[in-house]
Amino acid sequence: MNTEQPFSAVPTEPVSTDPVDRVINYHVRTKHHFHKYARSLGFLDWANQPNPFRRFEGARLVRLPLLANDEEPQSPSYDAMYQRDVVSSRLLTTGTLSRFFELTLGLSAWKKAGESEWALRNNPSSGNLHPTEGYVLLPPVDGLDLTPGLYHYASKEHGLELRADFPPNQISRLLAAFPPGAFLFGLTSVHWREAWKYGERAFRYCNHDVGHAIGSARIAAATLGWKMALLDGIDQNSLAMLLGTHRTEDFHAVEPEHPDCLAMVWPYENLKRESSFVKRDVPDMPLFLDQGVVKDLAIGPWHGKANALSREHGVHWDVIDEVAEASWKVSSEQLMVSTGASVTNYASQSTNDAGPSAGQVIRQRRSAVSFDARTSISAATFFHMLQRVTPLADHAQSDRPMPWDVLPWDPAIHLMLFVHRVEGLPPGLYVLVRDPKKLPLLQQSMNPELEWTPAPGCPGELPLYWLFQGDAQRLAVQVSCHQGIAGDSAFSLGMLAEFEGRLRQGGPWWYPRLFWEAGLVGQVLYLEAEAAGVRGTGIGCFFDDPVHEIVGIKDLSIQSLYHFTIGGPVDDDRLMTLPPYHHLKGS
Ligand SMILES: Cc1cc2nc3c(=O)[nH]c(=O)nc-3n(C[C@H](O)[C@H](O)[C@H](O)COP(=O)(O)O)c2cc1C
Repeated sequence: MNTEQPFSAVPTEPVSTDPVDRVINYHVRTKHHFHKYARSLGFLDWANQPNPFRRFEGARLVRLPLLANDEEPQSPSYDAMYQRDVVSSRLLTTGTLSRFFELTLGLSAWKKAGESEWALRNNPSSGNLHPTEGYVLLPPVDGLDLTPGLYHYASKEHGLELRADFPPNQISRLLAAFPPGAFLFGLTSVHWREAWKYGERAFRYCNHDVGHAIGSARIAAATLGWKMALLDGIDQNSLAMLLGTHRTEDFHAVEPEHPDCLAMVWPYENLKRESSFVKRDVPDMPLFLDQGVVKDLAIGPWHGKANALSREHGVHWDVIDEVAEASWKVSSEQLMVSTGASVTNYASQSTNDAGPSAGQVIRQRRSAVSFDARTSISAATFFHMLQRVTPLADHAQSDRPMPWDVLPWDPAIHLMLFVHRVEGLPPGLYVLVRDPKKLPLLQQSMNPELEWTPAPGCPGELPLYWLFQGDAQRLAVQVSCHQGIAGDSAFSLGMLAEFEGRLRQGGPWWYPRLFWEAGLVGQVLYLEAEAAGVRGTGIGCFFDDPVHEIVGIKDLSIQSLYHFTIGGPVDDDRLMTLPPYHHLKGS
């Protein structure tokens, strides 16, 4: 993603004070155009490259056990993970917590070239800059040898730093309405890490990465038989208080963290035993927290001061602070979710128990840096991948297949697919309508002359339409900032978000949420590609409006937010690969 160019000046326009207008202004301003990229430094200030590892100096670090891949808790087969009621739920122990963090935000390898060495993680990140930080709020749990409180995950050490000792009775009050054994998992972003390289467009990339991390956490939870749901009813001030990002004294003169989201993770079997499988007997769970208890908890005591990540910041990108503020979630809603079972994804009817384990697929995930322009996939594999990213839109949240049960909203992202090498499917442009109710909206937003033909050979329940036939390789490359990976693959795609309507109706905080959903789609595709013996790559660099012009999108009703590509990878064998935790061996 080294494609961004030096910026040319963008005049500062008088901006409305309406937060939705401010967010839209940011979005429009950070579009890449053929003749002009969104503003960035235009070169890499290596002397100030941000440290990808945050630590809180003075906070006690509790190392999590480094578990071998074949040690307990082992993961089920990749396919079994998508099956209903197949994976039995694990108790919360240091072992299961260790596995959860390893598969969510842990290291997957180190790469070495000459003198340089850098870590890769199980979650991807634009430019490998890893702006996302993870937190866990642990209640008192029998058999879990960790003080109750808030911890920050230190990925290089694979340990938890105790940020706050919250009184156990207060944590129990906070979690009283949740299933037994539930704990909170939170994400924050250091915007500076992405802004250092990508300038103004960085807020978008940070939120893609949050979406990927929501996906990696939901999937890691599934390997342990746990469920997870975003507590999207809470306001962002409460989130800041709970995760400690509001504590300016702990971030004095260093890069702040932006609180993104909080999720509840819980073992599912406890409930299965306690409820009678009759749907109405399955208890509801809030997707919000008691603000009074959050305020009490925020008193602490707190520990640790955040480390500085760069020596200096040459340029400060004010528009990132501006959009972060405009999209701040000020409201709280009393959303509820059933704690019932998630249903099998369409694509999971036949389980391949003999296939690779979920852990193996997660750990081997990598972004392809180039594709061979040869490898094709079968139509069956292609449809299977699309089924995995298609939630059952009319179902209640808890009835949607994993990982779509994590998001408390109907799908708002649809896929525009450039099919290059799918055996049995004519090359051309296709659209997957992830929520069939939205077909009219998509059709109205696009060129009215397009014909929406159901894709040939496509399983009946998959809302996949064929718009154009023809070779779309050059077009895909051209609109993806001239990156060959969009055309040399089996297929690539743009993620079309229901945009202005969602923001105006739902509020400006829908802006990050749309990127989260896109990131989650990307995370599922990364793993699907690995499981199918090919490889994927996220594409954050694309020319926004030229993408829209392909299907005649003329306004902001639909906007493409993220691209992705899947095909036969070509490895860079100049790089040496080292095991993920080799630096900890013997320590
Ligand atoms: C949101 C996002 C955007 C990305 N955009 C691009 C891109 O435009 N071009 C590219 O070659 N790689 C892109 N990548 C891939 C990253 O460079 C890659 O995830 C990172 O280097 C870490 O490597 P890994 O995925 O193998 O762990 C993107 C990844 C993400 C998550």
